[in-house]
Amino acid sequence: MVQLLPSNPIAPAFEKLLAELAGGRQIAIPTETVYGLAADATNGLAIAGIFERKGRPKFNPLICHVSDIAMAKKYGELDTIAIKLCEEFWPGPLTIIVPEVKNSDVHELVTAGLGTIGLRCPDSLSRKLIGEFGKPLAAPSANKSGGISPTTAAHVVAEYEGEDLLVLDGGPCVVGLESTIVAIDSGTITMLRPGAITAEMISKTTGIEVLSYDADGKILAPGMMKSHYAPNAQVELNVTNPNADCGYLGFGANSPENGKTINLSVENNLAEAAANLYSALKSLDEMGVNTICVHPIPQEGLGIAINDRLMRAAAPRINN
Ligand code: TXA
Ligand code: MG
Repeated sequence: MVQLLPSNPIAPAFEKLLAELAGGRQIAIPTETVYGLAADATNGLAIAGIFERKGRPKFNPLICHVSDIAMAKKYGELDTIAIKLCEEFWPGPLTIIVPEVKNSDVHELVTAGLGTIGLRCPDSLSRKLIGEFGKPLAAPSANKSGGISPTTAAHVVAEYEGEDLLVLDGGPCVVGLESTIVAIDSGTITMLRPGAITAEMISKTTGIEVLSYDADGKILAPGMMKSHYAPNAQVELNVTNPNADCGYLGFGANSPENGKTINLSVENNLAEAAANLYSALKSLDEMGVNTICVHPIPQEGLGIAINDRLMRAAAPRINN
């Protein structure tokens, strides 16, 4: 059975969650970005269980969640650029891909044998849990493969109905979009997945121009696969005049209303829109519409990450 654990008081919840982790089982945890399906990153069977539960078609590498920079250094080679970024943006929605340290005890299912490791320090409850566990937690978003990332505990509960899983309820995720992922390699920074920490913010902190992912056929971050963040309905972008049948994802004060509309932010606030995005897509899906039409979202700041996810949701469904 899926069991929802309240976070107040936190001590009894942590006791149960730490026992699950120590026993090699998976748990669902809140982060500021999305809920994660987490397990001990050093335990191969526990990690295999993540792929099994998610129904992932492939063993994509997973992000290792750490409690601080000291823990990150045990697993990844952090150069001065990496340290600067971690000091500025951790805990927070930034994942760095760096060379893995030799003889690391992180299981190779986590890194997919790439020789690199994805590290992120999430905020608040999860960070505290990792600190108490003393080892990193590998955690992809807690959705089943190809689905929308869960941004509330209720989303996670619905996803794993009928399975045995402990879910820590940390309330709705404040960011609502997966972390920014950058690869740091020999003095260069490459954006692999846009998120709340923007290329501009990263350049400002490091003084280095951020390269963007160039699709030369090699998939560095499978999150870059087309059709990834997909609701059940078809998705159509840049619609300013929705018909009465479609679900409509609106944005801004002048966005129209067709009776099946969810406005991501009446105030034109991109952070609010990001936080609402996945639950709005889910709610429109639940209305049973065939198509979800989307109002244009400004391609600036967080809007770049929102449009990235929406373009994937609208892409042909080749990977599902
Ligand atoms: O916000 C987030 O990042 C959430 C929360 C739970 O922390 N996690 C998340 O994980 O979005 P996931 O597995 O859905 O996406 C992780 C992405 C994948 O595209 C994966 O391929 C990439 O990170 N990744 C992880 N380690 C990597 C590595 N060593 N090299 C290249 N890509 C890597
Ligand atoms: Mg995911």
